[in-house]
Amino acid sequence: MIRAILLSIQRLVLVLLAVAAGAASAQRATFDGGTGLLTLPAVRVGAATYVNVVLGLIDPATFTFRLQTATLQTPAGAADVVFDAASGGLTIPDVAVGSANYSARLQLTDLATYTFVLASAEIKPAASTLAQIQALVFTPMCSGCHDGSSGAILPGALNLTTGNSYANLVNVSAREAALMRVAPGDPDNSYLYRKLLGSGITGQRMPFGGPYLDDATMARIRSWIASGAPNN
Ligand code: HEC
Repeated sequence: MIRAILLSIQRLVLVLLAVAAGAASAQRATFDGGTGLLTLPAVRVGAATYVNVVLGLIDPATFTFRLQTATLQTPAGAADVVFDAASGGLTIPDVAVGSANYSARLQLTDLATYTFVLASAEIKPAASTLAQIQALVFTPMCSGCHDGSSGAILPGALNLTTGNSYANLVNVSAREAALMRVAPGDPDNSYLYRKLLGSGITGQRMPFGGPYLDDATMARIRSWIASGAPNN
């Protein structure tokens, strides 16, 4: 009996994990150079959301695309790709082209045929890894206080020494707030990020007493969390 319950809980967790993974990857736009298809899982147009939006490359010389399919979704869901009908701009924050990631903007040039031309594309730097953040931040700046000692009491209760950070951060509830220390994919609602930024927190900004992290280092931590906070 207990075994059956445990198994069904296990199955439920697996389903939830699969849904979460699907939701995260569903936001990812991809361009397949072989077929010339630009696939946008979801696009926000005003209050509506379209799903399964596919644009086909019709002129590689000018990077001109034409809308092939789009399905209206009700009710509207969240979408990272946004089409602004007023300007005709289609903003794609994250599109995978082979193994590289770009942020791109397409411009509508013909409303009758839904033809878009690439207006700009910038390569996005790869996300930082936990190992890089450990070496750059946690070990030199945090682990002296956050050392795993003192049981349930901070700072020791948060262990940021090498090999322990992941298990102490990712999907672990913060002590000072009703937030995860690191919520994969959501830096703004990750208590670790807030403590380093010094906003939306209880107690002191970290590292305690400063000096605080510069913008470039904050961007690295943000990119690791935004990329799903892998144990890498
Ligand atoms: C000088 C000691 C000290 C250093 C260095 C320090 N902290 Fe802290 N940290 C504390 C103390 C004390 C608290 C609890 C009181 C508070 O939040 O003001 C705390 C709390 C935290 C919390 C809240 C944890 C929770 O579960 O609510 C986080 C997150 C945190 N620190 C991250 C860091 C990071 C990341 C660094 C390095 C960049 C760092 N701290 C450096 C002393 C320190």
